[in-house]
Amino acid sequence: MAKVVTAKAAAELIKDGDLVASVVFGLAGWPEDFAFALRDRYLETKHPKGITFMHAAGAGDWTSRGAGIWAEAGMEGMVTKVVTGHIGSEPQMAKAVQEGKIECFFWPLGTMVQWYSEVARRSPGLFTKTGLGSFLDPRFGESPYAKIMEVEGQEYMFFKTFPINVALIRGTTADEKGNITFEKEAIALEALPVALAAKASGGIVIVQVEQLAKADSLHPQFVRVPGVCVDYVTIAKTPQMQTMGTQYKASLAGHIKVPESQIKPMPFDERKIIARRAAMELMPGAVNLGIGIPQGIGTVVAEEGCSHLMTLISESGNIGGIPGATIEFGAHYNGEAMLQQDHLFNYFDGGGLDLAFAGLSQTDREGNLNAGTFGGKPMGPGGFINTTQHAKKVVFCGTFMAGPLEIRVDDGRLVIVREGTIKKFLKKVEQVGFSGKYALSVGKKVVYVTERVVLELTPGGLMITEVAPGIDLEKDVLPYMEFKPAISADLKLIPEGIYRTEWGELGRILGV
Ligand SMILES: CC(C)(COP(=O)(O)OP(=O)(O)OC[C@H]1O[C@@H](n2cnc3c(N)ncnc32)[C@H](O)[C@@H]1OP(=O)(O)O)[C@@H](O)C(=O)NCCC(=O)NCCS
Repeated sequence: MAKVVTAKAAAELIKDGDLVASVVFGLAGWPEDFAFALRDRYLETKHPKGITFMHAAGAGDWTSRGAGIWAEAGMEGMVTKVVTGHIGSEPQMAKAVQEGKIECFFWPLGTMVQWYSEVARRSPGLFTKTGLGSFLDPRFGESPYAKIMEVEGQEYMFFKTFPINVALIRGTTADEKGNITFEKEAIALEALPVALAAKASGGIVIVQVEQLAKADSLHPQFVRVPGVCVDYVTIAKTPQMQTMGTQYKASLAGHIKVPESQIKPMPFDERKIIARRAAMELMPGAVNLGIGIPQGIGTVVAEEGCSHLMTLISESGNIGGIPGATIEFGAHYNGEAMLQQDHLFNYFDGGGLDLAFAGLSQTDREGNLNAGTFGGKPMGPGGFINTTQHAKKVVFCGTFMAGPLEIRVDDGRLVIVREGTIKKFLKKVEQVGFSGKYALSVGKKVVYVTERVVLELTPGGLMITEVAPGIDLEKDVLPYMEFKPAISADLKLIPEGIYRTEWGELGRILGV
């Protein structure tokens, strides 16, 4: 029988040197009351110290909420190591990593959520092809966690298992036996494998929920973590967040479907222009939308009335309907299925994805993409490595330059008012998260969409295939690239319609 304890008592269960694995995605899954209690304990007692904090997706909302509170002033020494898929949304933690105060090791998000099951069944480790040739491949970068092994004549990355001391989970309701349901959650995540991994390691499972129910009163179909795996339950006093920006919407928990007209459209700016042009690459099938501008593609598809043409997916585990953008990233409106995250990544790694959209931070002549640390900023690959390596087609979407770019459109023509300050098209990317060479070797189609040009990966390197109306390649594009790209003999104009506030052409372009 799980023990019901206060957040303060739960925080006292963490020992010096523990490895704490949190099931989180932004603020979804984040046990905020527990996190504050742990912070307060450390500020008072300087314990627990030397924690390794493991989490697959980012644990924060890009501002001050989330795991960043464990890296604020006075917290030095509590978390000393982070093993994660993404840290960008925890700015204080990322800053501590950048300043060398906390060690940080990136894993592909999908690999981490799959790996917990290996710990759970006490296997020696996880074999995967995900990440081969990337900066996580020990032959090309530093990775104390992965090594290359050959099995039956094929190369794999091997991630050795190690014990999880504490599983930190959040649900909606616990019954007195510790059975946990997720009825108000928008994302199912990897709660069960993390709980099982902690149990198999001789560790403890702490779950924060909103309410307590009588023993055996929960519907067994809805129990995501069974009470036999739960040691401690703590009841939240402050509201739990469904996403980074939503406390609770019945629609995001899948209880109601909403008219698409209710989904807020993107404001008209360079991000929307990029999302629209990227949406023109859509096709029927399974399509993943990554973090950043790709999230806006779902909103564009809803605005254009085209969501029935394909199945949009988020790496959080949600399938179908319209993926939420920005502060609702990971949650879906009108979804079809809410999968456990490791199951979704099994589907991705098994070749299920037809098309993956991902953000564009840095690329080079060979079409490699960075998805780790860029410009000194630790960000983390999230699901990028899994989705882009295994999808049949990949579209990278981003502004042509980073920094304070300002654009204007004059009658369907793009004008660069203020140029960004950081180049994204480089001689060589700082870290390879996506290998252009590998993509070409497997015949993957790769497209790079920016507000001013579209490029494609060819055996000769990147080639500009389209240019925006109003843009002069010699003046607005080539001087800002560190290499000379090929220019298609059949150079086309990006359709002028996407540079107007109203569009309405997507259905026709997609052929319906
Ligand atoms: C690349 C990525 C940052 C783009 O995000 P975005 O919102 O589409 O695009 P932006 O250009 O607004 O970039 C976001 C921030 O990163 C900065 N950035 C982007 N490229 C950069 C570069 N090459 N160098 C330095 N900073 C860069 C931007 O300036 C911006 O900073 P700000 O928030 O301080 O203004 C994002 O897609 C990402 O982290 N991708 C890599 C990993 C990944 O895809 N992970 C998860 C899969 S879901």
